[in-house]
Order: sequence, then C-alpha cells, then structure tokens
Amino acid sequence: MHPPTPTGVSRTAVLIAQARAREGRRRDRMFIDQYAGPLAAAAGWIGNLSRAGMLVEDHFVLRTRYFDDYLTTALDDGIRQVVLLAAGLDSRAYRMLWPDGTRVFEVDLPDLLSFKNEVLARRGAVPSCERVPVPADLREEWPGALRDAGFDPELPTAWLVEGLMVYLTAADNDRLLARIGALSGTGSRLAIEHVNQAYSEHPRMKPAHNRLAATAASWQSSVEDPVAWLAGHGWRGRITGQAEIAKRNGRDIPPIADVTVMGDARLWLVDAVQEGADR
Ligand SMILES: C[S@@+](CC[C@H](N)C(=O)[O-])C[C@H]1O[C@@H](n2cnc3c(N)ncnc32)[C@H](O)[C@@H]1O
Repeated sequence: MHPPTPTGVSRTAVLIAQARAREGRRRDRMFIDQYAGPLAAAAGWIGNLSRAGMLVEDHFVLRTRYFDDYLTTALDDGIRQVVLLAAGLDSRAYRMLWPDGTRVFEVDLPDLLSFKNEVLARRGAVPSCERVPVPADLREEWPGALRDAGFDPELPTAWLVEGLMVYLTAADNDRLLARIGALSGTGSRLAIEHVNQAYSEHPRMKPAHNRLAATAASWQSSVEDPVAWLAGHGWRGRITGQAEIAKRNGRDIPPIADVTVMGDARLWLVDAVQEGADR
C-alpha cells in the first residue's frame, strides 16, 4: 500500500515526474532522474496527455536541465545552502552530486512531502546531501518553518522556484519574492519560472487549463517583464530561452520554443543575482 497520493495542485508534480522519467529513457537524455518513474508510478501515472501536455513536456525537461546547471554553478561558486520552493517530486536532493556540507531544504505542502518521503524511504533512497523537508504553505508563514528547520539567513543561498508561480496570485508571488529577499545572505542567487499572459491564454493551452481546473490547480498569474519585476525585488535577472537550452544540449528546437508555433507566448526561465553582485 502506498501512502495517499498527491491531490489538487500537488498532483501537478506528477506530470513533471513523468516527463523526467521519459527523458531518462532517451538515448540523447539531458539528465537521468532514477526516482522520477517510481514516484510517478506510486502517485498514479497520468495518461492521455493533451497536445498541450505533450508540448510542455519538452519545456519540463529543458527547464530541469537548465535549473540543474544553475544549481551546479552555484555549488561550484561555493554556495552550500539550497532551498527548493515547491520541490514537488523533484529528486535533485538524491540524484545530484552535492559537495560535502550542502544542505537542501525542500518546501512544499505537507501531504505532498509525506508522500514523497515515504515512497523514497521504501525504496531505500538515500539523499546525496543533507536533505531537510519543510512542510509549509508558500502563501502563509513559511519563513518561520524554514528557520526552525535550520535554515541560516546569513549564508548565501541558491533559491529555486520551479513550477510554482502560476499557481499563486500576483500578490502571493510578490510576497514570496519579498520574503526570499529578506532571507537572502550576501551572495545569494535565485532562479524562477513563470509565464506571460500570451502563454497563459494561448489557444493550445485551453485543454490543459480545463484539466488543471478540474484538479483545483487553475493558474492565477503571469508576468510580462520578469527582469523588471525581479529588479523591483533587488535581483538582476537574465532570461534564457528554451531554444538556447536545446541548442546547448545538442537538441533540435522543440515546438514549445518555436515562435511560429507559440507566437508571443513565453515560459520564462530566469536566473538572478543580487543587485550589485558580479555574475
Ligand atoms: C508543477 S509542481 C512542480 C514541482 C517541482 N518544482 C518540479 O518541478 O518537479 C507544483 C508544486 O507546487 C506545490 N505547491 C503549489 N501550491 C503550493 C503552496 N501554496 N505551498 C507550497 N507548495 C505549493 C505543489 O504541491 C507541487 O508540488
């Protein structure tokens, strides 16, 4: 018997795990996530992806690779405190090579984290860092829970906000960024993902929105200029396009990164350093 499977917005984490599992089976894979398949299977594989679902799978794997590279660079530059906000079924704490002394905090809703902890423990999975799960709602008083779990705001931190912002309102996202800023020691970095309105309203996304709404995971927000938005919160951001990530990794440009398919629609991938810091 598996623990209760993730529901509501937490069910979206299964889609990402599936995409990561499929990527691992490709000859030209950009990463291997050996836990993605077992986690998705335990949660109940989501079948019959819509065209939109298949389209965004390309994005999910490109973004995984992009954020893996972001974290690796932060580690190479000496950062040893990492916070994955809305960690979902991401198994980076188990699959990446973390230098000794690295602590990885995973914040997500309590049920999702209980499910993940139990499935991974049953498989005998051992984190390759000091992994600290922090059950909390990111719209509420999560900084206290993070500090209580041992997070040190004086240290430089690599923050990752992957696959979350669309599910929060613009006001919640502003509060999230303000809190991240308040908890960031000198030398911290931040990487985020969000969408613009044209993406959110793209006709191809309609079936996906209908399915998300049915699982209480409707999108709540978008951002038109993520670099300006981050600047307002003290971060100097840099956008990387999916086509560039595909090219770096020897992949053809997928439809999700093709302007003839997507027009003005953008899925933003942005990494940032604190204003005034060298990159
Ligand atoms: C699309 S998944 C992304 C998970 C992970 N970052 C990844 O890329 O595999 C969205 C995640 O956000 C989490 N989430 C959504 N709303 C949340 C909230 N208010 N507080 C904490 N976590 C939340 C869900 O539980 C889910 O794990």
